Amino acid sequence: MRISVTDRCNLRCRYCMPEHGVELKEHREILRLEEIQRIVDISTRVGIRKVRLTGGEPLIRRNIPELVSMIAATKKIDDIALTTNGVLFPRMAAELKDAGLDRINLSLDTLNASKYCYITRNGQLPVAIEALQVALQSGLHPVKINTVIIKGFNDDEIMDFCRLAYDAPIHVRFIEFMPIGEINFWQEDKIISCDEIRAQIEDRYKLIPWKISRGNGPAKCYRMEGGQGSVGFITPMSNHFCKECNRLRLTADGKLRGCLYSNSEIDLKPALRDGTDEDVLELIIKAINAKPDRHQMGKERWGQDNRKMYQIGG
Ligand code: 5AD
Ligand code: SF4
Repeated sequence: MRISVTDRCNLRCRYCMPEHGVELKEHREILRLEEIQRIVDISTRVGIRKVRLTGGEPLIRRNIPELVSMIAATKKIDDIALTTNGVLFPRMAAELKDAGLDRINLSLDTLNASKYCYITRNGQLPVAIEALQVALQSGLHPVKINTVIIKGFNDDEIMDFCRLAYDAPIHVRFIEFMPIGEINFWQEDKIISCDEIRAQIEDRYKLIPWKISRGNGPAKCYRMEGGQGSVGFITPMSNHFCKECNRLRLTADGKLRGCLYSNSEIDLKPALRDGTDEDVLELIIKAINAKPDRHQMGKERWGQDNRKMYQIGG
């Protein structure tokens, strides 16, 4: 289960958020920590074992270490991960680890400081690099990086990311650029398929198929012969993995989504606030059964009235 704990963010990545005028949810609409924990607890009855906290930027929300410890104390949950831009991570890492966080994914699209500043609209690369180092030092393994490859922006850095994953136990996931989020920034001809990315990598490295110990998700992963980390490919555009998808997404305002790309949502809030655990469970099962066979990304444009990526959490 991927849980978006807030729709707010301290960066403004061009493909994700508009610069100004982000519509934010009212505080009373946002689930309380106890409500999130209750949903996680109930969902273990239908097999949920892994939780990922996302945003917006999850570390923006107050008391996230407390939420981590509440989830860690939930029976049957055996893996808690966090997807973060890293800005607040160094100062919170020890507390998060003590609370029971297992690992993080760092969103990092470029290793060039001025490009980083451009794509995040003013983010500072050294801050993200520090987050990476702190994650490695804190033993939050496996440490993963999410890299959205965008033609003309960072496709010249694929080998730099590989080098990083070769030299250190870092696991880079290259993600195809999806028509989701700040749709005015997206263009079809900025997509680079993972086949192209892999072909480029194979010119230099021998790739060995590899199953990372836990939390592989939809990525197809490879070690580079002689290297320490791995590279993985997430191919929503060129080769959908919907058949293998077992994700449920919970938005900050308590809606369950069976698919990132489908607009169908089930509101858990009424049952949470007035119903029994059985009522909530019934809705969770309904959301699982409503998972579509496959997404329709690419066939139709992401509508302006759709939720934004920062509301779903990726
Ligand atoms: N295409 C691909 N990946 C995206 N992400 C956000 N928007 C897009 C998009 N349009 C990524 C972020 C983050 C992860 C949760 O999703 O970079 O790492
Ligand atoms: Fe924030 Fe992540 Fe969106 Fe960037 S991609 S604006 S870091 S939520």
